[in-house]
Amino acid sequence: MKIYSIREKNYEGKKVFLRVDFNVPIKNGVITDDTRITSTIPTIDYLLSHRARLIIASHLGRPEGKVSPEFSLKPVAERLSEILKKEVKFAPDCIGDEVKKLVNSLKEGEILLLENLRFHSEEEKGDENFAKELASLCDAYVNDAFGTCHRKHSSVYTITKFVNDVAAGFLIEKEVSALSKLLINPERPFLLILGGAKVIDKINMLKNLLDKVDTIITGGVMAYTFIKAKNWEVGDSKVEEEAIPVAKEIIKEINKRHLEFHTPLDHIIAQKISEDATFIATERGTVPHGWIGVDIGPQAIEEYIDCINRAKTIFWNGPMGIYEIEKFAKGTIEIAKAIAKTNAFSVIGGGDSVAIVQKAGVADKISHICTGGGASLEFLEKGSLPGIDVLKKE
Ligand code: 3PG
Repeated sequence: MKIYSIREKNYEGKKVFLRVDFNVPIKNGVITDDTRITSTIPTIDYLLSHRARLIIASHLGRPEGKVSPEFSLKPVAERLSEILKKEVKFAPDCIGDEVKKLVNSLKEGEILLLENLRFHSEEEKGDENFAKELASLCDAYVNDAFGTCHRKHSSVYTITKFVNDVAAGFLIEKEVSALSKLLINPERPFLLILGGAKVIDKINMLKNLLDKVDTIITGGVMAYTFIKAKNWEVGDSKVEEEAIPVAKEIIKEINKRHLEFHTPLDHIIAQKISEDATFIATERGTVPHGWIGVDIGPQAIEEYIDCINRAKTIFWNGPMGIYEIEKFAKGTIEIAKAIAKTNAFSVIGGGDSVAIVQKAGVADKISHICTGGGASLEFLEKGSLPGIDVLKKE
């Protein structure tokens, strides 16, 4: 896939609109994970050292077109300034006369972070007039917001109709290169590890990967949905009922292709989901009535580690259980550690990815950690994303 790169452009003295995904978790005004900020630093550094006048724009959360202080990017401006050890000016809005004034007063190598794009409902609608307003701020457009590239929003998609000079930043390049490696001639055996919830959202990606993977292992709500689709007992474990018909179809497809497919051989079960719950391991792959599956069991861990050790390519999405509760995190942590020990090309995607690998202390041992949950799934389903298509060379 050939996309315009910032390396082939000249940004000297130009007003560059850099779309990033600074949609970071914030609790009581404090950023609890700044990975999405730090991942764009190489692009920001590059543009600054090439004497751009840098306008940075992002969304934060889902304020639904209304100005709400809890979704302000102000704390992000402060964090970015700390990381860069440099002043980051902050604009009270992302369009309008005041913003234009701030942009026009920017000198080469200076940065202005705009306020949350989603304070305007037009952003999510991909509105052309709003996109034109954003475009009128700049001479060149750079997108490094990989996590948002599956959205046809004004600042990601429509804006490219109104700026001639467009390019992808280094984060998008890195994400596209890692995910493409999974789709184009992945080294075999290719192991797909699927856990967590949002089964329906992951099903299309799974369907697209069926022709590429050799082995599939499952955990969490994903596993319980498949176990129920096999008509086995799941007790009170969380299942996505609406995904069961398609899970049944997928089991048929898996069998047709003779793929290795695993639901857990055993489970950790509890009667409630809380820190003080008592728990036991089952002896088999079903969950008895009145109990909830909260993690994969020791036999499943052993079997899954064996699959991991045999793999040359691994894609993992979603935890093996309720890993946020320490006593139910073992399966997820052991899987993370096992992946970290292999020489396989490993990619982890999905909302929980960063938290999981950090918890397991193995973040630096994974080949690639995606910064986009929905975006990485859609990329693996369709082979590209709308926000990336508009950066492609003819
Ligand atoms: C994400 O967190 O996945 C991206 O920032 C996109 O956010 P959204 O799902 O609210 O569009």
